[in-house]
Amino acid sequence: MTQATARAHPNIAFIKYWGNSDDALRLPVNPSISMNLDGLFTETTVTWDETLKQDTLRLNGMDTTGQALERVANHMSRIRKRLNIETFAHIDSANNFPTGTGIASSAAAFAALTVAAFAAADVNLTEKELSTIARIGSGSASRSVPSGFVEWYFAKTHEESYAKSIVPPDYWDLVDVIAIVSEQHKKTGSEAGHPTAKTSDLQIARIMNAYERCENIRLAILNHDFPTFAEIVEEDSNLMHAVMMTSKPPLFYWKPTTLTIMELVREWREEGLSVCYTLDAGPNVHCICERKDAETVRERLSELSGILDIKVAGVGGPAHIINKR
Ligand code: DP6
Repeated sequence: MTQATARAHPNIAFIKYWGNSDDALRLPVNPSISMNLDGLFTETTVTWDETLKQDTLRLNGMDTTGQALERVANHMSRIRKRLNIETFAHIDSANNFPTGTGIASSAAAFAALTVAAFAAADVNLTEKELSTIARIGSGSASRSVPSGFVEWYFAKTHEESYAKSIVPPDYWDLVDVIAIVSEQHKKTGSEAGHPTAKTSDLQIARIMNAYERCENIRLAILNHDFPTFAEIVEEDSNLMHAVMMTSKPPLFYWKPTTLTIMELVREWREEGLSVCYTLDAGPNVHCICERKDAETVRERLSELSGILDIKVAGVGGPAHIINKR
């Protein structure tokens, strides 16, 4: 039996991934850019075991079967194919943040799983290949493999659709102050959501300008240019939600508190605070701030009603091995 444990952070996208050209391979229709979230992580131990007849999964301390096991076992089968082995594995995975809170747990989960599985088999892959393989488990997981601020390239082939670091975490001290508005499980998660993107007439417009937004946000990051960064991040989030709301069937993720916070964030920025909002496939609001204003934003959010919890995360490093035997 060989075993390895990996840790990976979730990430928050500034330019969003929404819709695939190939759902099975998770080849996205546009490039995306994100930052890893420090302090929040998934820790996954993979133990290859010759005596097993199938993969087993423990999730946050609970033996797990059904859809979650099926998705993980499918991913392990791809990894087995790449390793050219038939051995099954025990997978033990835990998050230090609650699942289903709108903090994308699948990104950290599939990044940690991929990195742990190859390390446990004593096989060293490049970061590029680890990112492509993590991508097939969950698209955004490709972005949790490299460090800091990360771009996931658009490509038509499996080999070239991977994510790479733009700059390391200490390049720009940004903080994500996450207002948790609902802890209910989403009715339509990202996996079911992506295939609906093409049913919106707005998706084509979102995709067309995604390249330019990526270019501009990359520059804004490199120049520490918060005002430009803020306008593009909010525009891109609004565009994705416009696509969601105009898909067939329409997907509305916002709650009244979500909109209240979005409006306040824009007012706070006009007052001079370096803060902007972005939302994933859920009602929680990620308030991206420069460090100097993060505490003020957290305090102001804590005074509002309708917010269940607030999480604060700086820029995180790459998925990495923390233990191996
Ligand atoms: C709205 O990576 O969670 O958070 O590939 O089906 O696992 P699957 O989808 P996922 O989609 C993330 C969508 C998003 C935007 C983003 O993170 O870019």
